[in-house]
Amino acid sequence: MIVAIDGPAGAGKSTIASEVAKRLGFQLIDTGAMYRTVALKALQAGVDLADAEKLSEIAHQLHFEFAWVDGTNRIKVNGEPLGDAIRTEEVSKASSMVSTHESVREALVALQRQMGNQSDCVLEGRDIGSVVFPNAEVKIFLTASTKERARRRAEQLKEKGETPDVSAIQTEIENRDARDTQRSASPLVKTADAHEIDSTSHSPEEIVEMVLDFARNAQS
Ligand code: DC
Repeated sequence: MIVAIDGPAGAGKSTIASEVAKRLGFQLIDTGAMYRTVALKALQAGVDLADAEKLSEIAHQLHFEFAWVDGTNRIKVNGEPLGDAIRTEEVSKASSMVSTHESVREALVALQRQMGNQSDCVLEGRDIGSVVFPNAEVKIFLTASTKERARRRAEQLKEKGETPDVSAIQTEIENRDARDTQRSASPLVKTADAHEIDSTSHSPEEIVEMVLDFARNAQS
C-alpha cells in the first residue's frame, strides 16, 4: 500500500507522515530530503543551480536508504548517514531551485518508485499523488495558512536559540510556494482524489487519526 502525503512547506507533513508510518509499520520516504541532498552536494561542489545537466549527474550518483532505527527514520546517502546539513535555510532555498529541473526530478522519481514498490510505504513530498504514485491507495493534501506556517517555523528557530523575523520567514515561504506551484515540471497540485486537510484547524493527533482511517478503509 502507498500513502501519499503532499502539500506546501511547513504544513506539518513530516510530523504526520512519520507518525502515520510508525503506526502502520510502513517505510517512510521523505522525498524532500532527496531534493535537499542534491542541493547540498551542488552547493558543496560549487555547481550552478541553473545547470540542469550537472545537477542531474549529481542526482544519478545518489543511492538512498530509509530505515527506522529506535523509532527515528534514518536516512543514508551512499552508505553515509545524512545529518542536519540539509535543513539549513540556504539548502531549503537551493532545493526549491534544484527541484524545478525535469532531469533532476526524473532521476529522483525513479528512485522513489523503486523504493515504494519494495514495501508498504508512506511517501511525503509535493508530487507523490500526482506523479510518483498516481494510483496510491491513500492521497492526502495537507495545507495550512502561510501565516501559521511562518509562525511554526519561527517557533522552531526560537527553540534553537535564534531570533527569527516572522515577516521575512512568511515572505520566504510565499516565494517557495510560488516556485513550487508555478514551475512547469510537476508543480505542487492537489489531485481530484486527494483528501485535503487543513492543519491550521486540527491537532496533529486528529490528523493522524484521519489518515489512519483512510488507510484502514483502503485496506478493507
Ligand atoms: O519538503 P521539503 O521542504 O524538504 O522539500 C524541499 C524542496 O524540494 C521544496 O522546495 C520542494 C521540493 N520538493 C519537490 O519538488 N518534490 C518533492 N516530492 C519533494 C520536495
